[in-house]
Amino acid sequence: MNSTFLGQHISLSLFGESHGPSIGITFDGLPAGIPLDLDGIRTQLEKRKPKGKISTARQEADEFEIVSGFFNGFTTGTPLCLLIRNTSQHSRDYEKTKFLMRPSHADYTAFEKYHGFQDYRGGGHFSGRVTAPVVAAGAICMQLLHEHGIRIASHIARCQDICDIPFSNTPDILETQMQHLNQSYFPVLSEEAARDMTALMENAHAKGDSVGGVLETIVTNLPAGIGNPFFDSIESILSHLLFSIPAVKGVEFGLGFGFADLYGSEANDPFRMEGGKVTTSTNHNAGINGGISNGMPIIFRTAVKPTPSIYQQQETIDYQSKQNASLTIQGRHDPAIIHRARVVVDSMAAIALLDLGWDVLGIAHRQSFRSSHERGR
Ligand SMILES: Cc1cc2nc3c(=O)[nH]c(=O)nc-3n(C[C@H](O)[C@H](O)[C@H](O)COP(=O)(O)O)c2cc1C
Repeated sequence: MNSTFLGQHISLSLFGESHGPSIGITFDGLPAGIPLDLDGIRTQLEKRKPKGKISTARQEADEFEIVSGFFNGFTTGTPLCLLIRNTSQHSRDYEKTKFLMRPSHADYTAFEKYHGFQDYRGGGHFSGRVTAPVVAAGAICMQLLHEHGIRIASHIARCQDICDIPFSNTPDILETQMQHLNQSYFPVLSEEAARDMTALMENAHAKGDSVGGVLETIVTNLPAGIGNPFFDSIESILSHLLFSIPAVKGVEFGLGFGFADLYGSEANDPFRMEGGKVTTSTNHNAGINGGISNGMPIIFRTAVKPTPSIYQQQETIDYQSKQNASLTIQGRHDPAIIHRARVVVDSMAAIALLDLGWDVLGIAHRQSFRSSHERGR
């Protein structure tokens, strides 16, 4: 299983299963001397936690423990390992149906790849639960990006036919919108859209069904010149990380597939000088030219599918008897993943942009050596 992301400067290795003793991440490559904001990590983890009828009933405290790479309040520069213990497993829910493959989940593909040795309980390593440590790692990356004024926020742009209002082009309004999203559990800008989306999710839940949607993310204040041509372009690295999130089925930058409908004269973003700074009048290319940031906001959309585990009866197969079968699932599931996936998307964006911006932002040299005496210890 390849659950490791090898960036140019950092590497992340995820471990754990939904119903195992713990989940976690090993984060290698962080420079020494970063004073981690542990409350900042808790705040981010809180956004991923299930709440109300629009989420799974499984309640986990998601308290984390940093078991290496962190000493006297600072990163040491050696691998940082962060552990979250699972405390609310109902593994018996999965016993009766363990050979009945949930449609559109990873049960069948896991059987084919791991020959029955996989931990099938609660989706095992394929569970959305494994995204909690990603959020913790993303919070650390975000902390470093914030030092440079770089901000990330996402909203649910669409849920079936219910659309949110778009991000504003006016910097002050945009700033307020981003703050609102980062303080909200349900990340939607229009109150009316938030109410209708919640009702849609609750309705789906009542019918034993689920819904998906589209997240829209904006990154502001990313300086021009970050990224690479070709294989390690901003789009390539971001897509790699975004498509790693379970249930993500589409990623689109700027106008994305909308470019197909336009002439070049409509699609191009004209350059102009504004207050001595290079800017573009439109931002159809999402702040990226040739894989490299041009200083405009990075904008991308991520499609999240409806939760595959629904409570309605479904047709499937019995893997053991190799017969057709019908499945009525047990267990606790999200009627919608999208609101919980928002912070996972933000985290992946932070991870990608920190790794890509490492040299331009001077991450390796951000702190000169300070003795423990100077730190007042
Ligand atoms: C935050 C989050 C929560 C999720 N919750 C559930 C869930 O409750 N039930 C479920 O069947 N799938 C859930 N998923 C999605 C599955 O993990 C995913 O659909 C499955 O692993 C198959 O992968 P694929 O959809 O990418 O093909 C969740 C995903 C995320 C990111």
